[in-house]
Amino acid sequence: MIVAIDGPAAAGKGTLARRIAAHFQLAYLDTGAIYRAAAFQAVAAGDDPADPVAAEAAAKRVRAEQLADPKLRDEAVGKAASVVAAIPGVRAALLAFQRDFASHPPAGSRGAVLDGRDIGTVVCPLADVKLFVTASAEARALRRFKELQEQDPGAIYLRVLQDMKDRDARDSQRQAAPLAPAPDAVVLDTTALDADAVFKMACDIVGRKVAL
Ligand code: CDP
Repeated sequence: MIVAIDGPAAAGKGTLARRIAAHFQLAYLDTGAIYRAAAFQAVAAGDDPADPVAAEAAAKRVRAEQLADPKLRDEAVGKAASVVAAIPGVRAALLAFQRDFASHPPAGSRGAVLDGRDIGTVVCPLADVKLFVTASAEARALRRFKELQEQDPGAIYLRVLQDMKDRDARDSQRQAAPLAPAPDAVVLDTTALDADAVFKMACDIVGRKVAL
C-alpha cells in the first residue's frame, strides 16, 4: 500500500501524512527533508546550492540518519532546498532512496506514505492513493507565519507571503519534476479546512482502498 501526498509549502501535507501513517500502520517518509539535507550539506561545505556539481555531490552524501536533524527545519534551509531541488542531477541522486523506501518500508508496516512535490507524478506513479493537498498562498503564509512567530516575535507576515510565492514559483516552474497534481490525484483544498477535517476526508479515501 503506497500513499502519495503532494502539494505546495505549508499546505498541511506533513501533518496529514503523519496521521495517515499512524492510522493505517504505514511507514512515513518526509521527502522534503531529503532535499533539505542535500541543501544543508552543500551550504555547510561552503558551496553555492545553485551550483549543479556541488549540489549533486551533496545529494549523494545524504544519509537517512540526518533527516531528523532539527536544523533542517530552518526557513533558510527550506529556501535552499527549493534551489537544489530544481537541479536534475540532485533529483536523480535522491530518487532511488525514495523508491526503495516506498517498495521496502521498515518491517512491521503495511506500506508507506511519502509526502513531497512529485511523489504521485515521478517517484511513485503507481501509488494506490494520490492526494494533492493545497491551499491559497495567503492561508499557507498565515499558517507558516504563526509557526514562525512562536520562535521569532519579529516575523513579518508580508515577507513570509512573498517567500511562499517565490518558493511556489520555483517549485512549479522548474523543468525537472515540477510541482503539479498527478492526473489521477484527489485534490484537497485546505484553505477553509482545519487539520481534523482534512484528516477525515483523507481517511475516507485511503480507507476505501484498504477495504478493497
Ligand atoms: O515543509 P515545506 O513544505 O516548507 O517544504 P519541504 O516539503 O520540506 O520541501 C522543501 C523543498 O524541497 C521544496 O520547496 C521543494 O523545492 C523541494 N522538494 C521537492 O522538490 N520534491 C520533493 N519530493 C520534496 C521537496
